[in-house]
Amino acid sequence: MNPIPHSWRSSICINFFGPAIMLLLIFISPVSSCAEQESHSLLQFLAGLSQDGGLAASWQNSTGCCTWEGIICSAEGAVSEILLASRGLEGKISPSLGELTGLSRLNLSHNSLSGVLPAQLMSSGSITVLDVSFNRLNGHLPELNSSVSDQPLQVLNISSNRLTGEFSSTIWEKMRSLVAINASNNSFTGYIPFSFCISSPSLAMLDVSYNQFSGNIPPGIGKCTGLRMLKAGHNNISGTLPDDLFQVKSLEYLSFPKNGLQGTINGALMIKLSNLVFLDLGGNRFSGKIPDSIGQLKKLKELHMDHNNIDGELPSSLGNCTNLEIIILTNNRLMGELAKVNFSNLPNLKNLDICMNYFTGKIPASIYSCSNLTWLRLSFNKLHGQLTEKIGNLKSLTYISISYNNFTNITGALHILKSLSNLTTLLIGGNFMHEAMPEDETIDGFENLQGLGMNDCALTGKVPSWLSKLKKLKLVLLYNNQLSGPIPTWINNLKSLMYIDISNNSLTGEIPLALMEMPMLKSDKIGDDSDLRAFLMPVYVDPSLQYRTAIAFPRMLNLGNNKLSGAIPMEIGQLKALLSLNLSFNNLNGEIPQSISNLRNLMRLDLSSNHLTGEIPSALANLHFLSKFNISYNDLEGIVPIGGQFSTFPSSSFAGNPKLCNPMLLHHCNSAEQAPASPISTKQYIDKVVFAIAFGVFFGIGVLYDQIIIFRYFG
Ligand SMILES: *[C@@H]1O[C@H](CO)[C@@H](O)[C@H](O)[C@H]1NC(C)=O
Ligand SMILES: *[C@@H]1O[C@H](CO)[C@@H](O)[C@H](O)[C@H]1NC(C)=O
Ligand SMILES: *[C@@H]1O[C@H](CO)[C@@H](O)[C@H](O)[C@H]1NC(C)=O
Ligand SMILES: *[C@@H]1O[C@H](CO)[C@@H](O)[C@H](O)[C@H]1NC(C)=O
Ligand SMILES: *[C@@H]1O[C@H](CO)[C@@H](O)[C@H](O)[C@H]1NC(C)=O
Ligand SMILES: *[C@@H]1O[C@H](CO)[C@@H](O)[C@H](O)[C@H]1NC(C)=O
Ligand SMILES: *[C@@H]1O[C@H](CO)[C@@H](O)[C@H](O)[C@H]1NC(C)=O
Ligand SMILES: *[C@@H]1O[C@H](CO)[C@@H](O)[C@H](O)[C@H]1NC(C)=O
Ligand SMILES: *[C@@H]1O[C@H](CO)[C@@H](O)[C@H](O)[C@H]1NC(C)=O
Ligand SMILES: *[C@@H]1O[C@H](CO)[C@@H](O)[C@H](O)[C@H]1NC(C)=O
Ligand SMILES: *[C@@H]1O[C@H](CO)[C@@H](O)[C@H](O)[C@H]1NC(C)=O
Repeated sequence: MNPIPHSWRSSICINFFGPAIMLLLIFISPVSSCAEQESHSLLQFLAGLSQDGGLAASWQNSTGCCTWEGIICSAEGAVSEILLASRGLEGKISPSLGELTGLSRLNLSHNSLSGVLPAQLMSSGSITVLDVSFNRLNGHLPELNSSVSDQPLQVLNISSNRLTGEFSSTIWEKMRSLVAINASNNSFTGYIPFSFCISSPSLAMLDVSYNQFSGNIPPGIGKCTGLRMLKAGHNNISGTLPDDLFQVKSLEYLSFPKNGLQGTINGALMIKLSNLVFLDLGGNRFSGKIPDSIGQLKKLKELHMDHNNIDGELPSSLGNCTNLEIIILTNNRLMGELAKVNFSNLPNLKNLDICMNYFTGKIPASIYSCSNLTWLRLSFNKLHGQLTEKIGNLKSLTYISISYNNFTNITGALHILKSLSNLTTLLIGGNFMHEAMPEDETIDGFENLQGLGMNDCALTGKVPSWLSKLKKLKLVLLYNNQLSGPIPTWINNLKSLMYIDISNNSLTGEIPLALMEMPMLKSDKIGDDSDLRAFLMPVYVDPSLQYRTAIAFPRMLNLGNNKLSGAIPMEIGQLKALLSLNLSFNNLNGEIPQSISNLRNLMRLDLSSNHLTGEIPSALANLHFLSKFNISYNDLEGIVPIGGQFSTFPSSSFAGNPKLCNPMLLHHCNSAEQAPASPISTKQYIDKVVFAIAFGVFFGIGVLYDQIIIFRYFG
């Protein structure tokens, strides 16, 4: 017989002595004094849960409640803390917890608790920290009856629930100790009552963002003398910033993005907020100028004034805010020379975004001393001139867009920018009009480039071979140029490329088979699309504009409006990851390959205005995501398939094919040609259901997709 292995022996020992040690611990522990009444309150709470995340196993009546999971007792043996965040709890919060007279901290965040927040917790005489954030609580906040005495509550986190109703002042009247309230991401309505500044003199943090608060900012906020952080973005607040807001000298963080606020920013008042570190007034209707006095906000690190109607020049005093890290002024009516500001004085600057304004002149040389700059967006302005060598100092740059200005010398620009080895996104389209595409082999570097936009430049020349060296390239935009010659056969060296738009050029020759070998178009493995979304979209934009969800970036091939000839390769059926294929306005002939119906993810297919012949493959009716389909102006014949998405395409999708017969719309087909009506099989029914589910997902893509396709807004 084998001897018992050592490890077994030791586990036997533990099993033998374990309970004895446990008993001993319980015996000597002062926590055993958990009162009967307290266990009872806790067990009532447990009984109110429909899903207890395994708590019942630990919460046994026979042991003292101070040993129960998630329960901490005071030295006297009273329950003082209940810490049950992220336990998978479901069900209601029992009011019985309000009976625990020693309870000071209750943390139930990140569960799926529903129902109302019991008044007994809000009015508890002992709770100082109450965190029920990230649950599914609904209904109104309890109104407390005026006989309750002052409550010790200091921290209230009810954020990310489904709470509704108004923030009536009777809720807050007795909460004289409040320091922090996070009520963000609910559905609260009505005014923001700044009366709690009167009742709670120590209030330092108030977050009411992502609700449906409306009306003006009511007076009273000036009484919040200790308020350091006020976040009220993403509501429907209107009117102007009230004067007494500027009395709150303690404010460090002031944020009202995405509301309906208007009026000018009063410079004389603004300077009173000398402790401001963060100011976000983006997405409102503010007008007038940025006041000169902004230079006195010496602590300012972030300035967000995007999407307003702010006009005038940038005050040169902005250069006095030497701690500035982020300046976002996108989409206003600012004008004049950027060089008004001496950027040399802003050594910490990381993000500068002046996209969509009317700035003129050259890029100020002082910007090149901001060596921490990672994000620079100057697109959609009226800047001109050439990039200078000094931009090579900006070694931290990962994103630069100068699109849609009037810069010249693309050859020089690329030679200068190629040395920026951290650059992932380079958008220079809408400049360099009618220049020649640099084909110079000495353009190398760009080793981390993932997105390249050289669209809308009317560039002449060929698709340059230096592109073949950009191994990390995921997205290339060359549309609206005058490039000629063939699509290069090295294209399949670009193993990461998934979004190709070379439409509206003068490319000739056949569609190369190399294009049918693009790995990212063949495989719909998600890859690391997350990077792509992050680099395309401003990292700092408001969360509703971020595409960080688990959707795939649309894989696209757009060769439309060129002079391509020959047949569509049968191998097109390999590009299974494609969501959009556009071969329209070329000289393609031959039949539509049957294999196109293998592109099961396809949402858009445009083969219009070519010389295609033969019949429409009936299997195209199996492409359940196809929502845009165009084969007009070819020489197709036979019967338009029926069923599937084909019932949703307008007759214009088929126009200009005289030999085509559409049983749904156009002239009647000969009875001999009549397609048999197929009864809906179970399989098709399931597909329809799947489609309905998937549609939700694709709607998500649609938003991003439209952003790209409709606005073609690679600023
Ligand atoms: C807990 O145990 C006590 C006696 O030990 C008993 O009176 C009480 O009813 C029990 N409570 C529950 C909820 O089982
Ligand atoms: C509640 O617990 C979560 C998870 O441990 C934690 O992140 C959060 O800070 C806690 N809340 C409070 C108010 O301490
Ligand atoms: C809830 O808010 C409080 C106060 O800001 C904070 O300490 C706590 O960490 C927040 N809880 C979660 C889960 O983030
Ligand atoms: C409030 O809670 C939300 C999550 O619900 C969080 O995103 C936000 O940062 C919190 N606010 C503050 C000021 O901590
Ligand atoms: C709002 O709450 C939902 C549900 O809890 C959560 O998924 C989402 O991330 C929250 N949004 C913010 C901005 O905190
Ligand atoms: C900008 O500031 C730097 C450093 O403070 C100074 O050396 C430079 O002369 C200034 N440039 C202009 C154009 O005023
Ligand atoms: C370039 O990127 C790498 C990796 O993200 C980073 O470690 C490095 O500091 C960056 N270089 C500069 C000059 O910012
Ligand atoms: C762009 O610059 C060129 C010369 O640099 C000039 O001729 C042209 O008028 C400018 N275009 C616009 C729209 O300002
Ligand atoms: C374009 O830029 C390069 C590099 O800066 C420079 O050598 C060249 O002279 C410039 N060309 C013109 C026409 O200005
Ligand atoms: C095609 O590109 C040219 C520039 O090369 C541009 O002028 C024209 O407007 C573009 N056509 C369309 C339809 O966008
Ligand atoms: C395909 O490209 C052509 C020419 O560039 C364009 O007019 C058309 O709208 C595109 N089709 C789709 C479905 O986007």
